[in-house]
Amino acid sequence: MAEIPVIQVLNKEHYFAQKLVSLPNEVPYSDLAPSSLRLKTKVLSLTSNNLTYTKLGFLLNLWDVHPLPPTTPAPYNDASKYGLINAWGYMEVLESTHPSVEKGSYLWGYVPIGTLAQDLEVKNANVAGQVLVTSEYRKHIMPIYNRYLVISPSAGLAEEIEKKTNSPAYEALVRIMFETAYLMNRFAMPGDSKELVHPGMDPRIPWEPETADLSGATVICFAPGSKVGMCFAHQLKQNRPRAKPVRVVAATSEVSQPFVEETSLYDEIVLSTSSPTEFLSKLGVQSGDKVVLIDFGGRGKVGARWTTEIKEAGYSNLLQVGIGQEISETSQADVLELFSTGNPSMLMNANDMRNRAMELVGEKEYFDELNEAWLELKKQGFKGFQVNWGEGMEAVEKGWDSICKSEIKTSVGLAYKL
Ligand SMILES: NC(=O)c1ccc[n+]([C@@H]2O[C@H](COP(=O)([O-])OP(=O)(O)OC[C@H]3O[C@@H](n4cnc5c(N)ncnc54)[C@H](OP(=O)(O)O)[C@@H]3O)[C@@H](O)[C@H]2O)c1
Repeated sequence: MAEIPVIQVLNKEHYFAQKLVSLPNEVPYSDLAPSSLRLKTKVLSLTSNNLTYTKLGFLLNLWDVHPLPPTTPAPYNDASKYGLINAWGYMEVLESTHPSVEKGSYLWGYVPIGTLAQDLEVKNANVAGQVLVTSEYRKHIMPIYNRYLVISPSAGLAEEIEKKTNSPAYEALVRIMFETAYLMNRFAMPGDSKELVHPGMDPRIPWEPETADLSGATVICFAPGSKVGMCFAHQLKQNRPRAKPVRVVAATSEVSQPFVEETSLYDEIVLSTSSPTEFLSKLGVQSGDKVVLIDFGGRGKVGARWTTEIKEAGYSNLLQVGIGQEISETSQADVLELFSTGNPSMLMNANDMRNRAMELVGEKEYFDELNEAWLELKKQGFKGFQVNWGEGMEAVEKGWDSICKSEIKTSVGLAYKL
């Protein structure tokens, strides 16, 4: 008898609450259409990023990537209220009618949280070993979510997943965070201004070489123990031959401090509850010196507080960068309010940075260089970081609850095998 698929359904406005919904009427699956893949999530990760998707999903069409299945029971079938959110990880190819992807391969990319198989129509990308989704309902989705890396059945991934090794967990937990950080360092604020790309969704917002220059700057990171924050600090140290900042500071919560120290990725560590101006003057930073504030989603609106206090103290050479959001259940109205009244910062976006970087250096060249840098980070890993593997949808449900209750240690990464 076919296994009954289970999906996680979230209320779009109250996404801390979840419901695991069984879908007995979705099986058996019908025949697969041409040029398509039947895919089932095999590995997924949960980080603060998933909660950002729920928070900003209504603005970025993220609830449309994996629509509610047709047999979803009431009341969860009301797409105006409920939806499926997304995670990064691997899907197994259960069936294929696409000539270049064999059954038994895996795709790395954006995956649904559940055991229901999905059918995607795909075409080959311009880079070998990658496919792009062409299904009609995914046309308005940002390209980054429609691109998948193909891993052949002979690569040994199935065994790695079975043994729950660090490698597939790092791929699910860190690869996209690394790419974001890589793009920030290599293209958004590059050592060589000829490689500068506009990092935001709206290219009309000015972004000039002087603005993006990190030479001699004090770079302050909020949520420095986040995966994306750690990857950025790593890239500043190891992948930046020119235009280096004078110091990279971790402005951390007390809870994350021990782990942030253990990573050895930052030159200075300060509690985010401290006075920013006292801290800057202790470091000898003058009012005209460049200070770059990068918010990877520090808790308690710490980025906004530090920025306001630093501005009010007369520091004039400031660059504010927004990357992440703190974990909170925020209504759509409050999100819009926050964006309209918050400190103006450059909201950097991995999708736009990647598109523009590919245009600048070429699609294949972009992925070749990225992959080399990624393998280097993966080989080194993060000091003190532990992967915690769970198995099955009930484990995912518990993980989601723990993230929402802020119960996960910053040093722990949640990976799941389904
Ligand atoms: N713009 C883009 O294109 C892009 C790309 C990738 C990721 N992101 C965003 O970057 C952010 C970080 O992603 P990640 O996957 O690297 O996250 P992560 O590793 O799960 O981040 C963990 C950090 O989140 C902070 N945090 C904020 N609120 C928290 C709470 N209530 N409970 C526990 N920790 C909380 C903590 O820093 P403190 O303890 O220091 O507060 C913690 O160290 C997310 O918002 C993600 O969406 C954006």
